[in-house]
This record gives sequence, structure tokens and C-alpha cells, in this order.
Amino acid sequence: MGKYKIAVIPGDGIGPEVTNAARVVMDLVAKKFGHDFSYDELLAGGIAIDVTGNPLPSSTVAACKKSDAVLLGAVGGPAWDNLPGEMRPEKALLGLRSELGLFANIRPAILYSSLSEACPLHPDIASKGIDICFVRELTGGMYFGDRGRREGKFGNEAYDTEAYSVMEVDRIARTAFELAMTRKKTVLSVDKANVLESSRLWREVVINVAKEYPEVKLEHMYVDNASMQLIKRPFDFDVVVTTNMFGDILSDEAAMITGSIGMLPSASLGEKGKPGMYEPIHGSAPDIAGQDKANPLATILSIAMMLRISLGLEAEASAIEAAVEKVLEKGYRTGDIAYGNTSEDSKIKLVGTREMGSLVAKEL
Ligand code: IPM
Ligand code: MG
Repeated sequence: MGKYKIAVIPGDGIGPEVTNAARVVMDLVAKKFGHDFSYDELLAGGIAIDVTGNPLPSSTVAACKKSDAVLLGAVGGPAWDNLPGEMRPEKALLGLRSELGLFANIRPAILYSSLSEACPLHPDIASKGIDICFVRELTGGMYFGDRGRREGKFGNEAYDTEAYSVMEVDRIARTAFELAMTRKKTVLSVDKANVLESSRLWREVVINVAKEYPEVKLEHMYVDNASMQLIKRPFDFDVVVTTNMFGDILSDEAAMITGSIGMLPSASLGEKGKPGMYEPIHGSAPDIAGQDKANPLATILSIAMMLRISLGLEAEASAIEAAVEKVLEKGYRTGDIAYGNTSEDSKIKLVGTREMGSLVAKEL
């Protein structure tokens, strides 16, 4: 039995719908396992710009810091697309990541056997299964490097800088090796060391950290090749550690081959003992917002990660994951994963966001 304070940032677009569905599941976990979850609903993103004029109010950051864990839906949308960089809704996400010191982004990409039809790869490849865990560096690199506009060789130009310190690479590499010890004991480090100096330092540091984990097999791959191999032989990938920018791109690719970006959860973690942030890796999907169409499973699976990692509730986390699998096995699908025959008599049943949340809760 435990009492936990969860900061909830519904955000924009489908964010409120998917976080609501996830809360239904959390409430059931609370009831079934005798916990007390209290939710502190906070503003960030476009909605915060509309209400307060600031994408990330300081009160939101302060409340997150006081919570046991943060659940975030999604931020952004066309209404705020023409604002300057510092005022965009995405600034809220980047601000939370840096303010909470969330340097490690864990993104598992799993192809559920009942969703193999949703995998766009050849059935011979899909049938071998996909179970990859991305460890993306989250508070450094080009996302946070020096940027600006200036006069260049060809006139006015813009620049963003990729920079990594030894400390930043060291701590993310450690996260990856620790994770590998709980899995197949392999780490693939993805970089662009044939071109970028920052990647050459990245590789040096990863090799150094590897010496402390002699049981783990370390491999390196250039990012362009990695994006190709991920399609050709995803079954060979296990723990992948990479930079902020490369991790952003490769994790979307991995999401697609597991059927839908609507299925992928994530955990953003900092120092031990500090609150982590949990969010689906998808965006705010303004085109389907408010229509009860979004897939809440990525958010529900993010809650499972939260319970396991931040609250230490392993049985509860596994119960949610098992319930999700059961619901998929029974044929329930949101639009993004509804492949094949969805006619009335087929096994595949098309459901909305709310119903999907209740189905998982019922299965629990
Ligand atoms: C993600 C998203 C964010 C990122 C955006 C919304 C800033 O794409 O979490 O992958 O680029 O990190
Ligand atoms: Mg992304």
C-alpha cells in the first residue's frame, strides 16, 4: 500500500484524451492493489500559452519537482506553430526535460504478436519479433546546443550546434549498460563518427564505459546504416544507445515497424530518487483531437513504466502490460492499429480512446 502524488500534464490535442484513459487504468490499479494516487493537473504547452502566456509556467515545474512522477500527454498544434522558437509549445517539453534533469529517455519498441499484421515489414521479418529498447540522450546535443542566426559566407544563415561532454556521454552509456545487464547483455551505440567530432568523442567514452561491463557485448553503427538495418533485421537489435537527435529519429522509425507510434511508451529519467517523466512518444495529433479516436495504449504503457521505475510497483506494472496484451489478443483496436477485416463479424473490433482505456481497466 502506498500514497503517491502524480503530476499530470494533459497538454494539447489528443493529450487530455489519452491521459484521461490512462488515469482510468491507474484508478483501477489503485483500487485493486490498495494504493492512493493523487493527481495534480498542471498546465504546459499550447494550452499554457493560451492561459498564462508562457508554454512552461514556473508553477508547473515546481509542482513536478515535488511529485513522485510526472505523466505527460502531448504538446503542440497548428494554433501555436507560428510563434518564435522560445515561445513554442515544444519549449515546454524541452524545458521540463532540462529543468528536471531528465537526461535518459528509455523507449521500448515491442511488436506484440497480435499486432504483427500492423507491422509494415515483410512477414518473414515481422514473424521473428521485435523487442528493442532505445536509450536516447535527452538533455544535450543539438537540441540544447548553441543556436542562432548570423551573417555567413553566403549571407544570412542559421545554425544549431551538436556538442557532447564526456560527462554527458558517460552517464547515458552507463544507463544503457545497466539496462543491458537486465536484458540480452548487448549494447549497440549509434553515432556518425565517420563525420562528426562529437560522435568520435561519443564513441571513445562509450568504449571506456564498456570496460566496466565486461559481460556486455558492445557494437557500434553509423546512424545511416542503423536506419537501414532497423528495417532489414530489427530482430537483431536489443539495447540501442544514441544521441538526442539520432534517438528522436530512430525511435520514430522503430515505432512504425512495431505497428503504430500509438503503441510506444517512454520514460525520461534523471538522477536516482528524482521524479521521472512518462509520456507516449507520439505527438498531439491535432487532426484527430477531441474525436475519441486516439490510441491510449502508449500512455497506458507509459503508466506501467512509471509504476515499475519510479514507484517500484513491479506487480502492478506487469499487470497493466498483461492487460494490454489481452485486450489486443481479443481483437480490440483503435484506428491506427486496425488492419485487416474490421467488418462486424470479424475478430477485429474498432474502438475509441475511452473504450480502449475501459477495456484495459476491465481486463485488470
Ligand atoms: C519526441 C518529440 C519531441 C522531440 C518534440 C515534440 C520536441 O518528437 O519526444 O520524440 O523532438 O524530442
Ligand atoms: Mg520525436
